[in-house]
Amino acid sequence: MLGVTVNGEFHPVPPGGGAGGSGPMLVDWLRREARLTGVKVACNAGACGACTVMVTEDGRDGGPPTHRPVLACLTPLAMVDGCSITTVEGLAGDGGEMHPIQRAFSDNQASQCGFCTPGQVMSLYTLLAKKPDATAADIELALAGNLCRCTGYRTILNAAKRFASDAPSSAVECGGAAAAAPRDSGFTGADGWSVPRTLRELCDAKRLAPAAAIVAGGTALGLQRKIASLILLI
Ligand SMILES: Cc1cc2nc3c(=O)[nH]c(=O)nc-3n(C[C@H](O)[C@H](O)[C@H](O)COP(=O)(O)OP(=O)(O)OC[C@H]3O[C@@H](n4cnc5c(N)ncnc54)[C@H](O)[C@@H]3O)c2cc1C
Ligand code: FES
Ligand code: FES
Repeated sequence: MLGVTVNGEFHPVPPGGGAGGSGPMLVDWLRREARLTGVKVACNAGACGACTVMVTEDGRDGGPPTHRPVLACLTPLAMVDGCSITTVEGLAGDGGEMHPIQRAFSDNQASQCGFCTPGQVMSLYTLLAKKPDATAADIELALAGNLCRCTGYRTILNAAKRFASDAPSSAVECGGAAAAAPRDSGFTGADGWSVPRTLRELCDAKRLAPAAAIVAGGTALGLQRKIASLILLI
């Protein structure tokens, strides 16, 4: 059975993730099953960043955890098996207060309809988790994939750049990032999904299932919505 940790809570995922085949896309599972509707779907095609979440994995060889921004609309749920996922709901403080990034967006009028805001916030949060001393240039780059139709980028960048290490003294602290969830190493097979870690394991998997599709980033397979109909994925 697959399993993901979302905002610190472990969720076993039944075979098929409730959608049959090799499971739904991460965004569908987060919104429909985990009921985390802060994760938005706008383009549903990897182009706008509204569905951005942070995926955290244990570092290799006992190293520090790694964080990466992921477009949940292009990511099959099985691809994040064993990972820790942070959504915008996971950023609130114990008393439900806004995270400093959210507060900065609010203070700078950086959100109008708000549809892009969770994705913008999660892209920045992930950057700062990876690189706490990110510069204003790093922040511009990290937000380049997050589109906004109504607010305008000036206020969004004004808010975001308050967290830059080279920002004026009014910059604010961001706070820590989510802890990594343990991820199984080695070859696993669940729900028609194999995760080879070595070339030998990949060759073995392909020999066992010659028809299985290999997935790397998923940006083509996810876009074509082929994943749910495929029986075997590597
Ligand atoms: C918003 C957006 C914009 C894009 N813009 C561009 C663009 O400007 N120019 C452009 O060229 N493309 C563009 N693309 C397409 C995208 O870059 C390609 O689809 C991407 O390079 C595919 O890489 P992937 O790792 O995501 O492939 P996947 O979706 O994981 O796989 C693509 C195909 O390759 C196979 N495959 C994957 N890994 C392997 C492997 N190791 N060995 C054998 N087969 C394998 C898969 O089975 C599948 O058939 C865009 C896509 C999106 C979503
Ligand atoms: S909804 Fe637009 S990138 Fe996922
Ligand atoms: S606030 Fe409306 S799309 Fe960004």
